[in-house]
Amino acid sequence: MNSLHTSIDTLFPPRISEILAMEPQEQMLTVCGWLRTHRDSGSLSFLELNDGSSLENLQILIENNTTGWSNLHKLIHTGAALEVRGSLQPSPAKGQRLELRAESIVLVGEADAASYPLQKKRHSFEFLRTITHLRSRTNALGAVARIRNILSFAIHRFFRDHGFIQVHTPIITTSDCEGAGEMFTVTTLTAPSSDNEFNYQRDFFGQHAGLTVSGQLQAEVYALSHSRVYTFGPTFRAENSNTTRHLAEFWMLEPEMAFCDLQGNMQVAEALLRFLINTVLEEGAADLALFDRHIEAGLLRKLATLCSQKFQHLSYSEAIDALEKSGRAFEYPVHWGMDLQAEHERFLCEELVQGPLFVTNYPATIKPFYMRLDEGEKTVAAMDLLVPGIGELIGGSQREERLDILQARMQGAGLDPAKYDWYLDLRRYGSVPHAGFGLGFERLVQFCTGLANIRETIPFPRSPGQAPC
Ligand code: 4AD
Ligand code: MG
Repeated sequence: MNSLHTSIDTLFPPRISEILAMEPQEQMLTVCGWLRTHRDSGSLSFLELNDGSSLENLQILIENNTTGWSNLHKLIHTGAALEVRGSLQPSPAKGQRLELRAESIVLVGEADAASYPLQKKRHSFEFLRTITHLRSRTNALGAVARIRNILSFAIHRFFRDHGFIQVHTPIITTSDCEGAGEMFTVTTLTAPSSDNEFNYQRDFFGQHAGLTVSGQLQAEVYALSHSRVYTFGPTFRAENSNTTRHLAEFWMLEPEMAFCDLQGNMQVAEALLRFLINTVLEEGAADLALFDRHIEAGLLRKLATLCSQKFQHLSYSEAIDALEKSGRAFEYPVHWGMDLQAEHERFLCEELVQGPLFVTNYPATIKPFYMRLDEGEKTVAAMDLLVPGIGELIGGSQREERLDILQARMQGAGLDPAKYDWYLDLRRYGSVPHAGFGLGFERLVQFCTGLANIRETIPFPRSPGQAPC
């Protein structure tokens, strides 16, 4: 090994998750974390310490005659940061294997008992949203952070193992991929010009720019040079939908594959989802058990079933047929050509097929310009993956690789082909059939945790009227 190699492991004390996996042999350890609760019992005090590494706390046992403890005792409250040194021992208490018998305690950072907001054992998610900067210290939001981390890492592992390379697509862009007019503008202009319009030619980029709604178009550039790529980053949508499934800032995973059609696209999506759910079941078992107990009864069963279930397929026309025959009184009446609403999506996957469902070949009129036109020219090679409890988790398509048809579709969508000339070049030079999809990362976290509102799945949620921290 390189002699310059230094281990950073000795810099930090072991994490509580590591300590909880140790065999207790009276070994001396130092542990750092934040106090969750404490209680006194006779000559002993018990502290529950958490450092974010696991749902479980480490119990610290202190004898009241420990040097300095009587003074410190009065200053230590829930939320305080502590450094404790002691010996690891088997615990006689029920429900825990280990405890740390303290020999010394340092109060690293106080927390005032009168004002620290996390005093109760349980707080509502609505209340916790008002203290986004502290809510990661609770059991549920602490668990969400670990689940997100497992899923994020698993995404990179899946794609690396299958020969994809990651591409960092831009956050600031001048192309509106979805063409839905939901882009946030990025500008340094502070006032409109004399005609009361913003003159973006005089702006920072010399043209209108915004925050990306999707990295797809740029991912296509690299798919047509590197064959299989993915981008995974924040995306932004200024849609005014105050729902439990929408955020103004969310993370999207977007693979893009050259020499791939709609069928291949769906196979990748299915294999990916199965892998991600398997991984989270294996690596996030303790946290998932919390959500199964308190948030969604049957969550673990739902996730395990997904891994063994074959995903169903219906064309859009078949789906419309099934909705019409359902006899349900939907709020939005069903007819061919309409966009499926959440109520329709949920009926299809929750009641009709009771599991994940790909809906394919939507009408061309309700889908973006880049989707490949099917024979007959009424539908496009689109696919949405619907899952129970969420509705649309993935949206994707085979892309239109034929220059003339793409140009016509752009014109039909009212786009200026001159602005997308770079995108058209991909069809002029070495165009190939290719496909890809976008998976909403927070919706995936929502599916894996059963959380009712997407605002609990991201550390700092942004929605209309709200952007704390
Ligand atoms: O279906 P969408 O709009 O697809 C695209 O943007 C394509 N360009 C993706 C591609 O083919 N590369 O978005 C993809 C997914 C949705 O299925 C949904 O899971 C999620 O992104 N999503 C949102 N998640 C949270 N908040 C929002 N406002 C979302 N909008 C879309
Ligand atoms: Mg979609």
